[in-house]
Amino acid sequence: MQQSVLIVPAEAEQVLTNNLPAQLTSLIGREQEVEAVCSLLLRDDVRLLTLAGAGGSGKTRLGLEVAKRLLTEFADGVFFVSLWPPLAFPVSSCLPLRGCLGCTNLQK
Ligand SMILES: Nc1ncnc2c1ncn2[C@@H]1O[C@H](COP(=O)(O)OP(=O)(O)OP(=O)(O)O)[C@@H](O)[C@H]1O
Ligand SMILES: [Mg+2]
Repeated sequence: MQQSVLIVPAEAEQVLTNNLPAQLTSLIGREQEVEAVCSLLLRDDVRLLTLAGAGGSGKTRLGLEVAKRLLTEFADGVFFVSLWPPLAFPVSSCLPLRGCLGCTNLQK
């Protein structure tokens, strides 16, 4: 897995482990959604959160923004793992996705 170190300007003393891809444009809106997703992910009883929406509606962008904002919350780091295309990263064969939710064509 590619890793990089991000120094957050507002908290320059903290060096935070992550591999989040840099966003070359500013996030437009979505403040309520970002807050809602951050709150959900910080709950002890939430271990998986799915963002659903039409193609191109901003699911990945929202997820990346949330990941960036939660960098300081996870001591072991925050990582982006693309599950599509399925062969892009071997983690897709480690997760119990095969045969569930119609994901029958995942390959090792
Ligand atoms: N709130 C936003 N502010 C700025 N750019 C955005 C925003 N939401 C989405 N974009 C941009 O629009 C494009 C599509 O967004 P994104 O890739 O997040 O959609 P998606 O829902 O994940 O699509 P797919 O279903 O194909 O995975 C990207 O270039 C992304 O950076
Ligand atoms: Mg996406």
